[in-house]
Amino acid sequence: MDYKQDIIKKTIAFVKNELGQNEAGHDWWHAVRVRNTALNIAKTEECDKFIIELSALLHDVADSKFHNGDENIGHEKASAFLKSLGVEEKICDHVSKIIKNISFKGGNAVQDFNSTELSVVQDADRLDAIGAIGIARAFSYGGYMHREFYNPDIKPVTNMTPEQYRNSKAPTINHFYEKLLLLKNRMNTKTGKIIAEERHEFLEIYINQFFSEWNGEK
Ligand code: ADP
Ligand code: NI
Repeated sequence: MDYKQDIIKKTIAFVKNELGQNEAGHDWWHAVRVRNTALNIAKTEECDKFIIELSALLHDVADSKFHNGDENIGHEKASAFLKSLGVEEKICDHVSKIIKNISFKGGNAVQDFNSTELSVVQDADRLDAIGAIGIARAFSYGGYMHREFYNPDIKPVTNMTPEQYRNSKAPTINHFYEKLLLLKNRMNTKTGKIIAEERHEFLEIYINQFFSEWNGEK
C-alpha cells in the first residue's frame, strides 16, 4: 500500500474510535461527509488533497464544546496522532492549524491562519451545517442539550462573542438565525458557494413551513 493510503487508513481507524460515542451531529459520519465534500470541492482548487483529507477526517476529534470549552485539545490531539505515525512535521503543523481555525464560534472568532486547504475543509464543514443534513444535525444537538424547538419569547442574538455563543441555551430554531442562515455568505470557494446556495434555499423553505405549522396554518 502506498505511504499516503496507509496514513489515511490509520487515520480513519483512529477517528472512528474517537468519535464513536458522539451525538449523531458530531459522530464519525460527520467526519466522512466533510471528507467527501472537501474532496469534491478540492477538484476545482489548486491544493494538497492529502492535507485536505487528513484535516477533514480529524477536524472534530476533540470538539471544544464536548471538552469544557478547551479550544486547544482538538488540534493538539490530531497533530500528536499524525506525529506518532511519523508524518512529516510540515504536514502535521498544517493540519493542526486548519483544525485550530476551522470553527465558526458565533462568527466573531479571530482566524490567525489562512490556506487554500483550510478554505476547502472549512467550506465542507459549513456545508454539513446547512441543507437537509444541517437541519438534522441542529435538532440532534438541540435534543442532546434538551433544548426547546422554538420559543417565541426568546429572540435570536447574532454577533455573539465565542463565549456567549458556546453558553447559549436558546431554542434550536434560534440557531438557524445565529449561524445556519449566515453561512451562505461566508463560503470561501467557488464550488462551496454554489452548493451553499441550494442548501440555503432548502433551509428557507424548511423555516417557512416550520412557522406555518407552528401557527396552526397549512
Ligand atoms: P463550529 O464547529 O463551526 O464551531 P458549531 O460547534 O457552532 O460549529 O456547530 C456545529 C454544529 O453543531 C452546528 O452546525 C449544529 O448542527 C450543531 N450546533 C451547535 N450549536 C448548536 C445550537 N445552539 N443549537 C443547535 N445546534 C447546534
Ligand atoms: Ni465539524
